[in-house]
Amino acid sequence: MQQPSFFKNLIGMFLKFLPLAVVIWLIVAWFGLPDIMRWALAGVVMVYAFLLALPSKRLAEKSFGQNIKFKLPIIIVVAGAIWVMAGKAGFPVWWQIEFVSFAFVGLAFFILLDTRALKPEKSTSSWVFRLLTTYALASGLFIAITAQLPQFDPQVEIEKLNRPPIKLSGLAGPEVIAAGREVFENNKCFNCHKVFWEGNSDRGPNLGSKQIGLYSEEYIRNQIIDPRADQAPGFEDKKSKKAMPTYYEEDLSEDEIHALVSYLKTLRDPTHMPVEGKFPNQWTWWDDPKIIAEGKVVFEGAEPATEGLNCAVCHGKDGIPMMTGALDFRNAEQHDTDKMPDQLKGVPLKEWPDALWYKRVTRGVDNTPMAPWGMIFQHLYLWKAEAYARTFHDPLDKRTEKRPVPPIPTKEDIAKWKTDELFLDPLL
Ligand code: HEC
Ligand code: HEC
Repeated sequence: MQQPSFFKNLIGMFLKFLPLAVVIWLIVAWFGLPDIMRWALAGVVMVYAFLLALPSKRLAEKSFGQNIKFKLPIIIVVAGAIWVMAGKAGFPVWWQIEFVSFAFVGLAFFILLDTRALKPEKSTSSWVFRLLTTYALASGLFIAITAQLPQFDPQVEIEKLNRPPIKLSGLAGPEVIAAGREVFENNKCFNCHKVFWEGNSDRGPNLGSKQIGLYSEEYIRNQIIDPRADQAPGFEDKKSKKAMPTYYEEDLSEDEIHALVSYLKTLRDPTHMPVEGKFPNQWTWWDDPKIIAEGKVVFEGAEPATEGLNCAVCHGKDGIPMMTGALDFRNAEQHDTDKMPDQLKGVPLKEWPDALWYKRVTRGVDNTPMAPWGMIFQHLYLWKAEAYARTFHDPLDKRTEKRPVPPIPTKEDIAKWKTDELFLDPLL
C-alpha cells in the first residue's frame, strides 16, 4: 500500500488534534491556572499528534521487553518535566506526586495497548470472566491509591459545599477572624500567598512577613477587589502584575470580604520590620528608600494620618535632641534606657533588635515624655518613623549592605508573641 507523505500525514494529525488542544487550553484558562500549564498541556497534545504522524518503521510487533525499553525513558523525561513545571507553577508537593503518578499510569496504559494480542479465547464465559476481573482489579487499584492521597475526603468536600455562606450578624471578634481565615483557605489565596510559615507558594507576597495587617482595612480591601490598581513592591514584573485574580469582588459576599479583611488585619510581627519583595529577592523596611522618605514625613510631623505626632519636636529634625533626655539618634553607641524594667543592657543602638525599637516606640518609656505612641497612632507609620530615625547614625547612602531579611517566624514564635503580650490592645 502506498503510504501518504509524512507532511500530509503531519498536517492531518495536527488538524485532528488542534480542537483538543484548544479545549484543554480553554479549560486550563477557565480554572485560572498559570500560563505555563496551558502551554505545557497544549504542547503535550501537539507532540502526541506529531508522534502519531511519524511513519512507522516496520510493521513487525515489538516484544514486551522492547516495548518497555522504548517507552520507559520517554515517560521518565515527561515525568521529570511535569514535576519541575508543577513545582514552578506552585503546586503543593502532593499534587506533584499525583501528576507524576498519572504519567506512570499512562505508561502502564500504553504498554498494555501495545502488547501482543492474546490467543483467541476458547469460550465466551472465560473472556467475560477475564474482562470483568481486569476491570475490577483496575478499579480497585485506582480507588486504593486515590484513597491514600490527602485531599480526597468526600465527607469534607461535601461539608464544605453544604456549609452556609458566612453571615456576620451574631459573630464576635475572634469568630469573624476565624471565618475570614476560612474564606482565605477556601478561595485558594494560599495557592499564591504564604502566611508566615504556612502555605507553599511564593508567587505573591508572604502576607505574614509583609505584615499586611499594618495597613488600613480600606487598603487591604482594595487590594483584594481591585488588585491591578496598586502593585506590591517587588512584584512589578509582567507576570506578577497580572497574577492575582480579579474576580474576588464578584465571588465573595460583602460579609466574606469583611471577615477576610478582619483576618488579614491580624497578620503582624511585633519583632521584625516588614519584609518586601518577591522571594528570594527580598529586603526589609530598614533599607527601603521609599519607606524611609515616608518615615521622614511622619518623624517631622507632616503626615496627615498621624496628626499630632512629631518625633522631631523632641528628638530634633536633624537628630540633635531638642529635649534633655531624649534619645540622640546620631549616637550609634547609645544604650537602651535604664528606666524600663525590661531594658536590654549593653546593646548599642546600631545593633538594637527590631523588637526593641518597636516596643519602645509603641509602648513609650515610663514616666518620661516618650509616650506610648502605639496606643494612639497606627503602627504602620511608627515602623516607618523608626526606619527613618535609624538613618541619623546609619545614613542610607553610606550603607555597604542591606540588613538581612529575618527568618520566617515559626508557629511557636507566633504563639509566644501572644503569651508574651507583645501586641497592644486595641491593636492600631
Ligand atoms: C494566582 C495567584 C494569586 C491568588 C490566587 C491570590 N493572589 Fe493576592 N496577589 C498575588 C500577587 C502576584 C500579588 C502581588 C502583585 C499585586 O500587587 O497585584 C498579590 C497581591 C495581594 C495583596 C496586596 C499585597 C500588597 O503588598 O499590597 C493582597 C492583600 C492579596 N494579594 C490578597 C489575596 C487574597 C486575600 C487572596 C484570596 C482571596 C489572594 N490574594 C489570592 C497573587 C495571588
Ligand atoms: C514629647 C517628646 C517626644 C516625642 C514626641 C518622641 N519622643 Fe522618643 N523619647 C523622648 C524622650 C524624653 C526619650 C528618653 C526616655 C528616657 O528617659 O529614657 C525618648 C526615647 C526614645 C527612644 C529610646 C528608648 C530607649 O530605649 O532608650 C526611641 C527609640 C524613641 N524615643 C523614638 C521616638 C520616635 C520614633 C518618635 C516619633 C514617633 C518619638 N520618639 C517621639 C521624647 C519624645
